[in-house]
Order: sequence, then structure tokens, then C-alpha cells
Amino acid sequence: MKTISHDELKKIVKSSPMLSVSASRLLQLTSDPDHDLMDVVNLVKTDANLTARVLKLVNSAAFGLINEITSIDRAISYLGERFIVSIALGDCVGKVFEKKLVGYEAAAGDLWKHDLRTAIAAREVVVQGEMEISPDLAFTAGLLHDIGKALISDYLKDSAPEAIELITSHDSVDYLDAEEKLIGFDHTQAGFELAKAWQLPEKLAEVIRYHHSPAEASEAFRPLVYAVHLGDNIAMMGGFGTGSDSMRYRLDANYTDYITLTPNTLASIMLTVDSEFDKLEQSVASTGEDKG
Ligand SMILES: [Fe+2]
Ligand SMILES: [Fe+2]
Repeated sequence: MKTISHDELKKIVKSSPMLSVSASRLLQLTSDPDHDLMDVVNLVKTDANLTARVLKLVNSAAFGLINEITSIDRAISYLGERFIVSIALGDCVGKVFEKKLVGYEAAAGDLWKHDLRTAIAAREVVVQGEMEISPDLAFTAGLLHDIGKALISDYLKDSAPEAIELITSHDSVDYLDAEEKLIGFDHTQAGFELAKAWQLPEKLAEVIRYHHSPAEASEAFRPLVYAVHLGDNIAMMGGFGTGSDSMRYRLDANYTDYITLTPNTLASIMLTVDSEFDKLEQSVASTGEDKG
């Protein structure tokens, strides 16, 4: 298999879908620890399409409200930030997330499902693991952590059995090594290039780059990167990976330096992931129906 040069990777990134203006501003805003929900409301109000989708979501069957909510302020405070970020991202990068991951032997939509589960788990890790970072930021970072897979999946095509073979024969320690051996770089490096092109906040770019090697992240962002690292592993433990690569990554046990988890809290996180996932997936999908 032919490896891809760094210049070719940059071309692939350039031809990928870009973020919408409001999604990009929403990511900037919600990554700033000083923002509040009113800032989110004001931003959503500048985008008629996003406003309509938020209202459609809050009044959808998934929430079962008796009285319709017609004010965007109330809708956003009812739903919370994570639903707004999910709609904005699911909408404009849907093309990236929804495509079939040929190189991972995964069906279309599997990446988005895995990302949603990782996002919920990372948020719960922050809440139940008594971390001093924003739960909603961990959610957003979880949603974005594997974007590199969508970029390189076409180039890994037909190589999943080869990648597995590399791992089982101990020529490669894990799937990241296998990706690098097969095409020249792994999905965290590819995702990092996309993060730069999208001008994502540095902390989100670091999560994308180091979610499989959290100890390498810069110190300031390490707790966030560990939260997503653990959330990713919890999503895969629940049987929701992205195909052939699931569980072929290493868990960095040093997460205990940042996160306090007991077997009970871990079980409770897994339960929350299941219950929140259905609501998020259904509702985000239902608001996008008439978009085609
Ligand atoms: Fe990953
Ligand atoms: Fe992942």
C-alpha cells in the first residue's frame, strides 16, 4: 500500500467540508470558560436555521413536553449546551461523520454514534469523576475526537484485515501504529490537520491529537484529554467502536491521577451513556430530516 505524504494529507484536508460560521463560533464560544448560556442564546439567534432546528428538537417527541416551547431562550436553557453543540455539529459536518468508514469496516453513521457515546461518557467522567473542568467542554471534545478517521478511512480501504494482522502478529503495538505503517500517519495526526484547517480552539485540537496518548498533551489541557481518553474507552467497552479497530488501543492507567472513579461510578456512567444516547441520537436525527 502506498503511503500518503504530508502535502497530500494537506490536500485531503483542503477538500473536506468546512465548518459553518455558526458552528465555528459556537465551538470558540463554548471553549471559553467565561461564557454563559446567554452568550449561546445570542449566537444561536443569529442563525435562523439553527434556531428552527433547536425549537424543533425541544418540541420533538423525544422530550415529551406538554406545552410547546416557542422561545429560543427557553428552549436552550431547557436543553442545555450539549444539545445545541450536537445539532450544530451534526448538521454541518454530518457529511464527514456520516460517511461509511470503509477503512475500518464500519457502517455509515457508526462514527457519529461512537462520537456521541464518547461525548456523553466524557461528560459523565467529568461530573462523576469529580473533575474541575467543564462537563460541556468534555462533551464537545468527545464529539470531535475521532474526526481524523473520516479523513483517512478511504485510504485505509481494504487494509483493515491487514491492520489487524499487523497487530496480532505484534509487528504493530496497536491500531495507531498499524495506520501509520499502512498509510504514513494515524487518525490523530490527520484529525489534527483538520482541526487546524477548521481553526478549532487549541484545547479541542489537543484532544483530537492526543486522545490515545493523553500523557503527551500539554499540561494545561491534560485533564480534558484524559477525560475524553477514558470516555472513548468506555464507549468502546460498551461495544460501540467504529468497526475493526475497537479495543485495539491502549488505556493509559494514569487517568487515576486526574479522575476519581469507583467500579460503581463506572457502572453508572455506562448506564447514563445508554439512556442519554437514545435521546440524543433520535432527537438530533429528527431535526435534520427535512434537510435532505
Ligand atoms: Fe481515536
Ligand atoms: Fe474513539
